Amino acid sequence: MNNAFVLGGTGFVGTRVCEWLANAGWQVTVASRRGARAGHLLHLPRLSVVELDVHDEAALAQGVAGQHAVVNLVAVLHGTQAAFEQVHVLLPQKLARACVAAGVSQLVHVSAIGADAQQPDSAPSMYLRSKGRGEAALMRAAESGQRGVFELAVLRPSVIFGAGDKFLNVFAQLQKVLPIMPLAGADARFQPVWVEDVASAVLRSLERADGARGSGAPLILEACGPDVFTLRQLVQLSARLSGVRGGRGRPVLALPRWLGRLQAALMELAPGEPLMSLDNLDSLQIDNVASGKLPGLSYLGIEGASLVPIASSYLGANRSR
Ligand SMILES: NC(=O)c1ccc[n+]([C@@H]2O[C@H](COP(=O)([O-])OP(=O)(O)OC[C@H]3O[C@@H](n4cnc5c(N)ncnc54)[C@H](OP(=O)(O)O)[C@@H]3O)[C@@H](O)[C@H]2O)c1
Repeated sequence: MNNAFVLGGTGFVGTRVCEWLANAGWQVTVASRRGARAGHLLHLPRLSVVELDVHDEAALAQGVAGQHAVVNLVAVLHGTQAAFEQVHVLLPQKLARACVAAGVSQLVHVSAIGADAQQPDSAPSMYLRSKGRGEAALMRAAESGQRGVFELAVLRPSVIFGAGDKFLNVFAQLQKVLPIMPLAGADARFQPVWVEDVASAVLRSLERADGARGSGAPLILEACGPDVFTLRQLVQLSARLSGVRGGRGRPVLALPRWLGRLQAALMELAPGEPLMSLDNLDSLQIDNVASGKLPGLSYLGIEGASLVPIASSYLGANRSR
């Protein structure tokens, strides 16, 4: 039986990844900083949870020992330069060392569209630059040719939708309480991908058997859905599908850049996770869509699901509640 060590398995995407792996017969170990966060996974067959600090290299080495595969879904969306560095760059570096030392065969790393491992510093935000540098560290290890090196797959999703997402659900909730929707980056384009398609891509990346296997060349895949929307269209769609104001939603007020930055700066001052940070706004300077230069989900035999029918099922359920 194949086994996999999943970092970030308690999160939005990680939960679905654990389900797909467990249901496909994999023995899954989820690493979490707080084991209690993994309670919702414990019903899955052959799944166990270990509480550990993934930034502790010795603990990480112990965790990956004896594992066939490792999946890394750990990320932060907001934070300081140091936090992005720790989570998106240093962690992949430690993971690469631990995987090589333990002889792990496969590593699937979930990154983000817009990250560029070749020229990480050309990206517009700390989030994307650090994602690119993390990818580059893993690629250097995978291509090093050293003994015991792992086969690497890097998935770069656009924004991910699905039941429980913090994206369409948040837009719908906001429109229930705000009279208008002041929106920064309204014309930024996205190619939303269904969370189940991303999770299925992780599984298929592990199970693929193609020419690239064993060649040392990493698989880099852009995980995007079939449709492109602007941020404004997504906000309007979330209202239509959840029935806010009879589906009409709130008027969207596209903010000029300076006002969008002021809004984000103020949001950063509020307690808790900001709805939008200055760094998030920086990410929106480039479109969140497939470049077309890399394989997509179809490379793994996955036909990306359209957003509207799926989002209407979970946003519509909110409406009836
Ligand atoms: N959601 C999207 O729309 C989207 C779009 C593009 C790319 N992605 C990528 O997809 C992956 C999964 O995203 P997600 O939305 O599922 O994220 P998520 O729900 O926030 O989950 C991230 C996980 O990482 C762990 N984590 C968070 N901060 C950490 C820290 N400082 N140190 C160590 N572990 C930490 C948490 O696990 P514990 O608390 O249990 O330790 C958490 O379960 C990420 O790589 C993300 O960049 C997501």
